[in-house]
Formats: sequence, C-alpha cells, structure tokens
Amino acid sequence: MVAAFAICGDLYHTPTRGCLEALADCLIEVGETGRIERMTRADEPAYASRLERADRLIRLQPGQCLLPGFVDCHVHAPQWPQLGTALDRPLEQWLDHYTFPLEAKFADTAYAREVYADLVATLLAHGTTTAVYFGTVHVDATVALAEICLEHGQRALIGKVAMDDREQCPDFYRDADVDAALAATAETIARIRALQPGEDHPLVLPAITPRFLPSCTDDLLAGLGALARETGCHVQTHCSESDWEVAHSAGRFGATDTAVLDRFGLLATRAVLAHSNFVTADDRAIIKARNAAIAHCPLSNVYFANAVLPLREALDEGVHVGLGSDIAGGSSPSILDNARMAMTISRLRASGMDAAVPASKRGAAGTSISVAEAFWLATAGGGEALGLPIGLFAEGAEFDAILVDPGTASSDLRMTGGEPNHDRFEHIVRCARSADLSAVWVRGRQVRNAR
Ligand code: GUN
Ligand code: FE
Repeated sequence: MVAAFAICGDLYHTPTRGCLEALADCLIEVGETGRIERMTRADEPAYASRLERADRLIRLQPGQCLLPGFVDCHVHAPQWPQLGTALDRPLEQWLDHYTFPLEAKFADTAYAREVYADLVATLLAHGTTTAVYFGTVHVDATVALAEICLEHGQRALIGKVAMDDREQCPDFYRDADVDAALAATAETIARIRALQPGEDHPLVLPAITPRFLPSCTDDLLAGLGALARETGCHVQTHCSESDWEVAHSAGRFGATDTAVLDRFGLLATRAVLAHSNFVTADDRAIIKARNAAIAHCPLSNVYFANAVLPLREALDEGVHVGLGSDIAGGSSPSILDNARMAMTISRLRASGMDAAVPASKRGAAGTSISVAEAFWLATAGGGEALGLPIGLFAEGAEFDAILVDPGTASSDLRMTGGEPNHDRFEHIVRCARSADLSAVWVRGRQVRNAR
C-alpha cells in the first residue's frame, strides 16, 4: 500500500497503437492501491475544484512531463555481467561459449543477489517499471531475483529456465532430467507466489520458462504445457529467432516453433515469444488466436537473428507485440534504445539496404513504424502483450510512471516551455537518456528519485 497522492503536469502516452495523446496540466489522482483513481483534464469543469482539493499534490515544473513506465518483455537477468560484450559469434555458438558458463555461476546465490540487485536498480533508472525475466536453471537464484524485484518495487514476471536436453545443453548447466526440471519449475512458482501472500494482484508473477525448443526434450515440453494449464502462469520462451533455430524445428518436428509450442499447450496461457523473426502468416494467426504475444528485440536481432521481424504485418494483423532488451543479446538496458532501434530497422527494411539493387526493388515499402507506434510498443503494447493494466494513463490502470526532466544540468534534451505537442514528444523518444528520467513510480511507489 502507498499513501494516496495526486500529480499534476503535462503528459504523453499512446493508449492505442500509433495514437499520441499529449495533455497539458493533467491531474492524476492515485489511490492507496497504487492505481489511478481519477484523471481530470485541464478543460474539464471539475478540474479547478479537484485540483484545489487534491491531497499530497505533486506539481510538475514547466518543461517537465510524465510518461508511462516502460515494459521490457524479454530480459535474461543472469546475462547482465556480459552486457555489451561477446557479440562476435552466432547464437548457437554464443550460448555454448559464453552464456551457459556465465549462467552456471548463478548456482552461487550470493553472486546472483549481487548481480540481480544491480540489474534491477539499473533497469528502474532507465524507466523499466515492468520486466519479464529469464533467470537461470537454479531455483534459489531465481527466487532471489523475485525478492529483489519486490524490495526495489519493480513489477516483474520471472521464470526458472527449464532445459533438460542432454545433447544440446552441457553437463555443467542443465536440469538433471525431466522430472527434476518440472519439480524445480513447480517449486519456483510456489515460492514466488508465497512471497506475496493474500495479494490479489501480485507485483511479481512466476512464469514457466522453457529456454527454447532445442534445449528441451519432448517430455519436458509436454510437462511444462500441463503445468501451464494447472497453474495458469504466463509462459515465456524463444521462438523462431534464427536460421539455426528454424532449421532445428524443421528437422526435429517438421514444423515451425509456433506450431510445436501450440501442440505442447505452451501458447494457451499468455505466452511471450521472444524474437519470432521467422514467424509465418500461419504462425501469426496461431499466436493471435491463442492471445499470445511477440517480444520484439531489435538490438539483439542485429547480431543473432539473420533477419528482421515482420513487425508491420504482425501489428496490422492485431498480434500482441511488445519490446524486449534481450539483455545481453541486446547491448542496452534501455527500452527507449530498443524503441529507437525498432524504428531504425523498420526504416531499413522499408527502404532496403543494398545500393546495388534498384530503388523499386530494394525494400518492403510501407513497413516502417512511426514514433508513436514505437512508443506504444515500449509502453501500452507491452502491457497488452502481458495482459496487465500498464503502459498508459487511465482510470483503473496502475500508476507506473516516469518523470522526464529536461531541466537538469546533465540533460541533452533541448525543449523550451510551451504546450506539449508531437515535436516535443518525438524529441524525448529519440533523445532522452536515463539522466533525463529523474523520478520513476511503480504502482504508486516512488522507486527512483534523482531530483
Ligand atoms: N535462445 C536460447 N537461449 C537464448 C538466449 O539466452 N538469448 C537469445 N537471444 N536467444 C536464445
Ligand atoms: Fe533471449
């Protein structure tokens, strides 16, 4: 519970995809539950009296504005020590050479706590109010991540990684067998749930986390599908990320990742499918029908994907899509960086890349995304992907918010006073850095104060 308060100032959000709302001097009243109880626009008749009566009112300064908190739909928490390094090998070699040895170190829970505390604090400083985390195979380290998110006040979905295939996973880093993997997953779910007893809307949710099809035996996939049905937990996994992964499923199952995940019941309870670069139109129809979602990870895709997500198609077909940093396949903890990269690669896809090809044949015309669409992916799109009331300002939504302050000495933002408008919004989306995000709230609790 937080004490009820009110906040009044300019704000920007994209409650529906691609549609910016820029509101001047909006009054938001936050209840003790941390949810928005009332939003009153400056031109509403009740505005003056509500403002006068508002309890514990925070008034933004001219030039400051509020944004909804960012949603990171795909983070590998244990890969944080590797950020910005080790991007010189293709995915399947990168896992064996760098990533599995690093993740194995999280058998040491004290080490895990140190890394995870720094990660969670850093993501909050970058405005990530909700994160969807892969942990490691270790139950204790994964539960420690949940405890740290609760201590820091970050909303999270967290999964113990399940991976039992003896050919694909090294002896030093895998579940001992299918029964051990299922028991450890069930234990992690129970222990994370027990951290928030009696809470109707827990801030931290457990997620069932098959690493990806190559790491898991058929028995494990079937068992995790059954566990998803029993527990109602979200599922998170990687889907059709690279040529190698696509070829693996074609050879092993004669089907796409999406079709196989569906067959094992892993798309039925709000699955978050990282990457999904190679999904076909049929795959997208399945993802949509199951109410599952794609976590688009544009920075990571540059290194590991061999291709670009058909984002325009997925969005126009109504598939849920959010953004993921894919730390440390992606080299930035910032969802704004990923929103910018999503715009950039969609522009390159639209224009094409090869100057030797005639302009008329070079790109896929009409596939680029707008600034407001990129921002929606970073906020409300992520909320829809997870099925949570986050990523926008609305009555009943959680008060997860970022205060942008261009007035600090270290700010690179160049905004003079005046009404909020599209240009100012675009400037923030393209240019803001963590130093410009001077306060962050999650569920009404202030979790960062750099003012
Ligand atoms: N596929 C399976 N594991 C991983 C991982 O850790 N990162 C990425 N990007 N893809 C994966
Ligand atoms: Fe990943």
